[in-house]
Amino acid sequence: MPLPHWEETPTDLPGAVREVKAALRAQIAASGRTVEEVFAVVERQVAGDVAEINAVRSRGETVWPVISYDDIESGTVSAADVAQLRKRGCLVVRGHFERSQALGWDAEIVRYVEENKFFENYRGPGDDFFGSVGSKPEIYPIYWSHPQMEARQSDRMARVQAFLNSQWKHTSEGVQWFDPERDSLYPDRIRRRPEGADSAGLGTHLDPGTLDLWMTQAYQQAFRHLFNGDVEKYDPWDAAYRTAGPQYPGSTMCSAFRTFQGWTALSDMAHDQGVLHTVPIPGAMAYLMLRPLLSDVPDDDMCEVTVNQVFPAGDKYHGLLMDAKAGIPDVRAGDSVWWHCDMIHSVAPVQDQKGWGNVMYIPAAPWCERNETYAASVRDAFRSGSSPSDFPAEHYERSWTGRFTESDLNDTGRRGLGLS
Ligand SMILES: [Fe+2]
Repeated sequence: MPLPHWEETPTDLPGAVREVKAALRAQIAASGRTVEEVFAVVERQVAGDVAEINAVRSRGETVWPVISYDDIESGTVSAADVAQLRKRGCLVVRGHFERSQALGWDAEIVRYVEENKFFENYRGPGDDFFGSVGSKPEIYPIYWSHPQMEARQSDRMARVQAFLNSQWKHTSEGVQWFDPERDSLYPDRIRRRPEGADSAGLGTHLDPGTLDLWMTQAYQQAFRHLFNGDVEKYDPWDAAYRTAGPQYPGSTMCSAFRTFQGWTALSDMAHDQGVLHTVPIPGAMAYLMLRPLLSDVPDDDMCEVTVNQVFPAGDKYHGLLMDAKAGIPDVRAGDSVWWHCDMIHSVAPVQDQKGWGNVMYIPAAPWCERNETYAASVRDAFRSGSSPSDFPAEHYERSWTGRFTESDLNDTGRRGLGLS
């Protein structure tokens, strides 16, 4: 019997959760193993990864893999480094851009926002996703500066994105799910956190979706091996069915399919200054997806996942995973940081931050049906200087001078926006 599914947000959320959970439990039981038995398989795997990560940490080694940009460009990344990237699902690319280039971009962003009187006109956070930090923003809802677009359409960015995309299985079942060589230039914001800042950070969460992960037909197919009890076959690097389906709308949604989320550092940042952490286990998604089906979770609850809020992860239901949380090593301006789109992540709190904490958010969002659809609204936003439709409708740049324009696009930029 096919699973019940909702291609738009169900009106009766608790009812839909009850219905889909009962159907998922029944489908798993039909495999001959109980939900508890298949969950135990996943738990053993994840526990092994957690123990290994803790052992690495206790030896004083860095959990996050680091690969130099030069090796990516020349195709000389070692097999061992690729294996580490796939095992941990996250990466620092050293020297992705020249440090002087990144610092120059940071200064140019400051010029751009100051010339356009951004601080005078700032109306406060457009959403509560990153929290409020007083009148001066840390998150700049700015999308169309020259530095951002130059980085997005650069050869160096395209090379790293193609390298990361190629870690995924993009062709299967006779379908090419995405094109690993073409990125869709997903526009996102800038963070500039000043010296001396106090920040509460961001709690552990994940970004690929919310209840739609269990409730839409496309995601039910993407997670088919988890939902039919065949958990040994689940492959976190398989893009099948992930690149076309709908998503439930929300204020923190991402319409695009991203193989990796990422940012490029625009300042040097030390590892203990409120930086990004991940639970560096791509396969932990199996744990997150099956955990709500255990009997200690109320029938109308998906471990507190609901629409219009980020997918929370935490001690209550995911204590085992929390032990593996690992922060990035020290980075320099021009390095970039990447993590698998399903991975749990957080930003550590900081008091009296030393140095700046500046980043441009640039993910790897390869060309696919979902990203092609979103690119149409991105083109409109680009031409009018609007905030992209995934983000709060703040539209600061519409009247600004010095925006990146269509005539500044190179071939990569035009392809990324679907203009050629
Ligand atoms: Fe996030």
